[in-house]
Amino acid sequence: MDQALLEKVFSTKDFKEWGNMIITELSVHLKNTTQGHNPKTINWNTPEKEFAFWNDFLENGKEQDFFEEVLKRTTHTHHPNYVGHQVAATAPLTALTAMVSAILNNGMAVYEMGMAPSAIEQVVTDKICHKIGYDEHSGGFLTSGGTLANLTALLSARKAKVVHDVWNQGHNGPLGIMVSEEAHYCVDRAAKIMGLGTKGIIKIPSDNNYSMDVTQLESYFNNAKSEGIEIFAIVGSAPSTATGSYDKLHTIAKFAKVKNIWFHVDGAHGGAAIYSKKYKSILEGIKEADSVVIDGHKMMLMPTITTALLFKNKRHAQHTFSQKADYLLDENENDWFNSGKKTFECTKSMMSLHWYLLFKLYGEALFDAFVTRQYDLAQEFARMLQEHNDFELAVRPMSNIVCFRYVGDQLEPGQLNDLNIKIRQTLLEDGAFYLVQTKLKGVHYLRTSLMNPFTTRVHLSQLLEKIKHVALLAIS
Ligand SMILES: Cc1ncc(COP(=O)(O)O)c(C=O)c1O
Repeated sequence: MDQALLEKVFSTKDFKEWGNMIITELSVHLKNTTQGHNPKTINWNTPEKEFAFWNDFLENGKEQDFFEEVLKRTTHTHHPNYVGHQVAATAPLTALTAMVSAILNNGMAVYEMGMAPSAIEQVVTDKICHKIGYDEHSGGFLTSGGTLANLTALLSARKAKVVHDVWNQGHNGPLGIMVSEEAHYCVDRAAKIMGLGTKGIIKIPSDNNYSMDVTQLESYFNNAKSEGIEIFAIVGSAPSTATGSYDKLHTIAKFAKVKNIWFHVDGAHGGAAIYSKKYKSILEGIKEADSVVIDGHKMMLMPTITTALLFKNKRHAQHTFSQKADYLLDENENDWFNSGKKTFECTKSMMSLHWYLLFKLYGEALFDAFVTRQYDLAQEFARMLQEHNDFELAVRPMSNIVCFRYVGDQLEPGQLNDLNIKIRQTLLEDGAFYLVQTKLKGVHYLRTSLMNPFTTRVHLSQLLEKIKHVALLAIS
């Protein structure tokens, strides 16, 4: 065995030298990107060329260039022209909590493999439960992403509401959940993983605002029931992904109560609005939910990937993966400190450090300031679009997600989908701005998530000018 090699790998001198170098490099990167000095938000490259570059770099690249190349070849979420996917421009100090977690590598599954982060996790999740409006029976945990958290919540729902012991004995009849057709695809995926099949996902149509049409709940429930499907849960989106529209949580909560089904809120993106004094009313009814998901890496400025899954009754958090049937569970069983009993994953990162540090340093005021600013900006952007004859807004934004399209003034409706697809591809390859796209009821829209705390009206105005320029070139 080459002990010298192992000693080299663990050299604290190398760690310090590389650490200093990368912190310096990242600080320059942050300064340049947040102030918009870098001309590009993304240096677009095709997958084939990118693969060829890194394949070659492994043999021929200089190791000291590694981080610089990574910086060059990634999308810059800290750039004010980043208005793309729903991932945070991270608060820089959370890079340090991520690093501490990476070095200490306490796997968190059992208490002694993460004493501090386990206790910290409890402090943080209790604090979020309190903010939701839950009482002392509530509790939760952190897990690796909204997708996994939604699946876990639905497993808890099944355990709590289905009389038959599905966990141990498998299905003995068709089960179902109700969810808006606009919900994130991970809810669909979770239901399929749980064996509900397509028939078990009762999709409620959306209204003109792309929120769940709650007037149809009763009829969809009754139809499913008449087909022999036992519905055990309903999911509200807070908000849905494509348009950022919030479902009417208070109405869904009432419906769930009457039908005695589990009410889950997917607040992966906009659950953080509980912190916004101005916008929290949009979440009215959330405290009636049996479970709530909130992503730290979306609207709470943390690095991927960390999600809070909160339960109105913490007993459910404790027993999702228990071998015992729900009616056999011991009310007093509460070893909250052993994370692996509650989470889908066994090992997870010490993700609670990000949440705690931000609470400790800046308090809840940080999330109020951030969410409120971004939601306000979306309202302003919507007004700008409405004042512009060349653009059409898909729907009035309810969060920081704004969908719109270029319509020009003399274009046939049939040309518009292709034109907007072309605009988005041209913008991607140009790289000055980064935005995404979506299709709503067959119509192609450009889609922005205003995730960056440095994006202003000026950047958005420049974006519209750029789109107009690209569109005119494409038409001519
Ligand atoms: C509403 C909603 N739920 C769930 C998810 C999935 O969360 P994650 O990417 O953390 O797995 C997303 C992602 O965009 C989302 O918007």
